[in-house]
Amino acid sequence: MGFSNIQYRVEDGVGILTVDRPKALNALNKETIKEICSVLAEAKESKTVRVLIVTGSGEKAFIAGADINEINDLGLKDALDFLSAGNRMNFEIETLGIPTIAAINGLALGGGCELAMACSLRVVSETARLGLPELGLGVIPGYGGTQRLARLIGKGRALWYLLTGDMIDAQKAVEMGLANLIVKPEKLMEESLAVAKRISSKGPFAVKMALLAVKYGSEVDLESGLVLESALTNLVIASEDKKEGIAAFFEKRKPQYKGE
Ligand code: CAA
Repeated sequence: MGFSNIQYRVEDGVGILTVDRPKALNALNKETIKEICSVLAEAKESKTVRVLIVTGSGEKAFIAGADINEINDLGLKDALDFLSAGNRMNFEIETLGIPTIAAINGLALGGGCELAMACSLRVVSETARLGLPELGLGVIPGYGGTQRLARLIGKGRALWYLLTGDMIDAQKAVEMGLANLIVKPEKLMEESLAVAKRISSKGPFAVKMALLAVKYGSEVDLESGLVLESALTNLVIASEDKKEGIAAFFEKRKPQYKGE
């Protein structure tokens, strides 16, 4: 399928989605969100894509936010559609069933930071900076930022960054648990692919269940989370991947997982 605002390719079972509007610092307009959602649908259906990496084109920005031109044009009536499109996109990313890695090559602001926070993992280039500057424009983060930032770094710190609009540099992002790994700018894709490959070697069905257990379990009390974990463990125990993983261990060979 031809896209105008993104690029998508699959390399050895890893989908690589690049937001490609460098002149607008890869800002997310409606069309871009639509194209991202169509890649998400394709990756979700795919039997071969085991990890999805999202990155931005150029050296300056990962994604500099929702497209401010479109926000400017919004009437009250359109605002809900605008917000729900971005929210749906981020929810799809978060519940894709395969791990997603934001490979953050530069500025991840507003909607860009929100998309990155919906991903399972974040690898940051040393030059990356993240932030939610929306209050400075007289709006608030509308693609999940007020919720996911507080869940990732705690309410106190999230309020600081939300209220001041301060950007978070790459080193600090890792220290606070907002990012997982910091790498040299020129190694960003290589290192992100290496993380993706490590994950792709695991049992895909177990990976999917682990993602569900953490996402839904971390939003409820511990006892409910443990019940969810037990139920998902039962599904994993009954899976073909479990038989294959354990057989491969005893036969001292690489497992050939089918994801079921
Ligand atoms: N939307 C649309 N266009 C954007 C953009 C955005 N979010 N961010 C940057 N651009 C455009 C600029 O308008 C500029 O276009 P022109 O060359 O046509 O003038 C081009 O990208 C380059 O940007 P700058 O000239 O401003 O570059 P800079 O180096 O001086 O500054 C920056 C970089 C600090 C990121 C600055 O561009 C900026 O502050 N951008 C806005 C960041 C922001 O506020 N993001 C949040 C958006 S609101 C949101 O995301 C709401 C939500 O939660 C859903």
